Amino acid sequence: MIAIDLERGLVTVEEAGERRTYPLASPEAFAVVSRAWLRCGWDTKYVYGFTWLGRPVIQLPEDLIRVQEAIYEIKPDLVIETGVAHGGSLVFYASLLRLLGRGRVVGVDVEIRPHNRRAIEAHELSPWITLVEGDSVAPGVVARVRELVAGASRVFVVLDSGHARDHVLAELRAYAEFVTVGSYLVAADGIMTDLVGAPRTAPDWSWNNPRAAVEQFLETRRDFVRSEPPIPFNEGLVRDRVTYWSGGWLRRVAS
Ligand SMILES: C[S@@+](CC[C@H](N)C(=O)[O-])C[C@H]1O[C@@H](n2cnc3c(N)ncnc32)[C@H](O)[C@@H]1O
Repeated sequence: MIAIDLERGLVTVEEAGERRTYPLASPEAFAVVSRAWLRCGWDTKYVYGFTWLGRPVIQLPEDLIRVQEAIYEIKPDLVIETGVAHGGSLVFYASLLRLLGRGRVVGVDVEIRPHNRRAIEAHELSPWITLVEGDSVAPGVVARVRELVAGASRVFVVLDSGHARDHVLAELRAYAEFVTVGSYLVAADGIMTDLVGAPRTAPDWSWNNPRAAVEQFLETRRDFVRSEPPIPFNEGLVRDRVTYWSGGWLRRVAS
């Protein structure tokens, strides 16, 4: 149970038989309210309401701001994203790289619907975008991506296709080789584990999710560590992100 008392400036949370009350002006209250907001946003499909330069982008706005901060830090010359959907995230990355004056984007999707392909190919930023159609972990698709990576010196990877644990684990293993040292391999939508019981979820999301894939991946890898990019500016009290990408940021630390 969560109760927000705006008049008294208090947030009360009751969990596992314990009741805690925080002042609204505290990071603890912000975390409790954010958790409720994320759940409410999931139920209402809040993330299905944004575009970037004309294309629908299915992301929480804070995740876009945070990945922008990481892109600006890394300044990749190649961003690879699995999971294209309407193409808004590809256009988002392409717009950042265009502004930075370097780089291209590769988008991989098992099915690029004709109207989405047409819109992406007609977009002002399409010269910076290469589409690859096929299962992201199919050997032929990975080989095609490898060809497109050739010569890139800083590569940033976002995995946002299927979110089942084994698929994300296979993607992590297949795409890790492309990530350059110092850059990131991001598995989106680790939030699934916190949404069990909500509409449009399944009970197995408690274990069958990208966060579990990341944990399994890290068991055998010393070249990646779980590490969210530093937040470059923060004069507020809140330290934690309000994110769908929880537990999904991996930094490559060795070759
Ligand atoms: C969450 S949407 C991607 C959203 C997009 N990145 C954005 O920010 O707007 C997931 C996409 O992954 C694709 N997908 C699902 N399974 C896949 C697979 N095995 N290989 C490649 N793409 C897959 C779906 O077709 C869908 O377009």
